[in-house]
Amino acid sequence: MTTMDLPATAASPLLPTLGGEYYTSAELFAAEQDHILENMWFCAVRTGDIAEPGQFKNVQVGRESVLVVRGRDGVLRAFLNVCRHRGAALCTEPQGQVKRHLQCPYHAWTYALDGKLVAAPNMGALKNAEGVGIDRVRYGLIPVALREWLGYGWVCLADEPPSFEIDVVGEVTKRLGDPAAIDHYGIEGLSVGHREIYDVAANWKLIVENFMECYHCATIHPELVEVLPEFAGGLAAQYFVGHGAEFGPQIDGFTVDGTAGFENLPGITPDQERRYYAITLKPTVFVNLVPDHIIFHRMYPLAPDRTIVECDWLYTGDVVAGDRDVSRSVELFHRVNQQDFDACERTQPAMSSRAYRNGGVLVPAEHHIAEFHDWVRAKIDPNA
Ligand code: FES
Ligand SMILES: [Fe+2]
Repeated sequence: MTTMDLPATAASPLLPTLGGEYYTSAELFAAEQDHILENMWFCAVRTGDIAEPGQFKNVQVGRESVLVVRGRDGVLRAFLNVCRHRGAALCTEPQGQVKRHLQCPYHAWTYALDGKLVAAPNMGALKNAEGVGIDRVRYGLIPVALREWLGYGWVCLADEPPSFEIDVVGEVTKRLGDPAAIDHYGIEGLSVGHREIYDVAANWKLIVENFMECYHCATIHPELVEVLPEFAGGLAAQYFVGHGAEFGPQIDGFTVDGTAGFENLPGITPDQERRYYAITLKPTVFVNLVPDHIIFHRMYPLAPDRTIVECDWLYTGDVVAGDRDVSRSVELFHRVNQQDFDACERTQPAMSSRAYRNGGVLVPAEHHIAEFHDWVRAKIDPNA
């Protein structure tokens, strides 16, 4: 037995992490796709990106390609991106706009924006001996459950989606301690002032774990710690219900140099001023609330060692339409993102090292990550 095989003892201040294979194994990743990504509510699109009838986005949810499209009636809908004839992908572009219909490029079956099959070459001739034609609803696109909240479209591939109120809204309430707290920020009415897309060579769980703890803040986030001095202590503010990290006394705004940002979002309460709240919404969303903007992360786990992270900086319409300079507030969290994702990429290769076969350890400031690990294990192996 080597020291790396030694289990943590009951008296130890250290808890074990997941073993390395959880971050590298194709089978475990498939189980996560099955039980987590394709079974829970997955934040897919910013609804304002698909504002016009006929606009669509094509997003990867677990192993499925999902088309989110705005109908002529203004309603947002989601469908599996699979033609009902012989299975060609309807759209291969990540986004676009069609006039009235979605047409398969293979044999030209054509679907209305509500998913109904409306035309197929020689459709009139496609009748059986009794003169019965193709059922246009039955052979329409397969719908995917969709909910809109905070200005995002959340989809769920499960046959019976879990409660959105418990799994999504309820998790935000658990963190903030008050169901109305999130509403004060008016996130659904904000505009995207900036977006960054990061292609991260790391398992999605490393990104979640990193976001959940602040033990690393003093080491890798000098700018963030300058703005939020309590982060130097290494305790994750999001672990404490209702707590937001307070800006330092010399800090005027959540910007890279601590200079003033914009006017506070109109609905926030006095206790939300000069504070930063981070929320981890399992499995793939992080929400960061500051008084004058929101930083909203969505992850798309593509492989055990690859995750796309789309990060939106949201401001009032006045700030975005007025072309005001958002660069100093964007720069702060862009640096934080780069610092975090570099750390995750530095960790990923070691996940397949024999040194990490039995995992690593969590110090007390990270102990809440063990709950995330228990959650993952219970999800992917419901009989465990
Ligand atoms: S596969 Fe789409 S029309 Fe044939
Ligand atoms: Fe970080």
